[in-house]
Amino acid sequence: MATGSATAKLILCGEHAVVYGEPAISVPFTQAVIQTEVIQTEKEIKFSSAFYTGGLKNMPDFLEGIKQMVVSILTKLGDAPVLIRVLSEVPIGRGLGSSAAVSTSIARALYAYFGKTISDDELLELVNRSEKIAHGNPSGVDAVTVVTGKPIWFEKNKTLEPLHFKKKIYLVVADTGIPSETRSAVSDVGRLLKENPNKYRPLITELGNISREIRTQLETNPDLKLIGAEMNKAQNLLEQLTVSDTSLEKLIRVALENGALGAKLTGGGRGGCMVSLVANASQAEKVAEALQITGAAEAWIFTIGEGNHESNSDSSHEYSTH
Ligand code: PMV
Repeated sequence: MATGSATAKLILCGEHAVVYGEPAISVPFTQAVIQTEVIQTEKEIKFSSAFYTGGLKNMPDFLEGIKQMVVSILTKLGDAPVLIRVLSEVPIGRGLGSSAAVSTSIARALYAYFGKTISDDELLELVNRSEKIAHGNPSGVDAVTVVTGKPIWFEKNKTLEPLHFKKKIYLVVADTGIPSETRSAVSDVGRLLKENPNKYRPLITELGNISREIRTQLETNPDLKLIGAEMNKAQNLLEQLTVSDTSLEKLIRVALENGALGAKLTGGGRGGCMVSLVANASQAEKVAEALQITGAAEAWIFTIGEGNHESNSDSSHEYSTH
């Protein structure tokens, strides 16, 4: 047996705008990890997971990208009958990059099974191809964050910039329990931009400016209130782009009412997850509890950046969970 794993991702800001060349900040969401096991079997290639169990041949359409990736890896490495068992902590389709994380963990496990290594660049190419089949026209931000496992500044077709956050920051992420409709949300934003560029293009530019402001803050001495205000502004713009919904807005309202400094949807929107910024650990507990009481399917507290107690903050970055 061989194993491979991958971590989900969380977009702090820039979703949707990133499809149109604006920057996004994305971090590995270490609260949710996918593990894949590859086990030798007798005959056909089989798949086992929370979202599909059966032969590779009969995989449903929404897994077509993963199916094609598996076929191409097996064609390259050796056509052995294997069972691919995906053990996922990542809720599927909640804007946490589950499809990129599933593809990455499967590819890693298959390479390990055949005793081969795969570079990040090769892995990225495989995962991006699989993501294109699953999502139509993805910016690539999910794949890059999942494969590198680092906080990143992502601009389409530009060199990737790893980010180093100066201070430890507390976030509370909550799941509406409703699958995010990334594909339709992305295509509707495209339609709005085509039909009324004068109205919608400035919103995309503004979302890019918010990412720039948040990056400056995170890389220096962050003013949490200012970051929170920028997140609220982003949420407002995403609502105007029609990618939010009442399930997200309910959680966002509850987070803000319970002391969050800012809150917005994360990922594709229309269901899926929201992310809120809080001042400290006790505030995080309070917001997470309120979100759970109000009906969030799950709420996670997690931190990005380094705590003051950690040394050498200029030369390394720390991504920690709470
Ligand atoms: O919903 P997710 O986790 O696939 O995130 C999508 C992010 C978007 O910016 C909405 C789309 C993209 O391809 O970048």
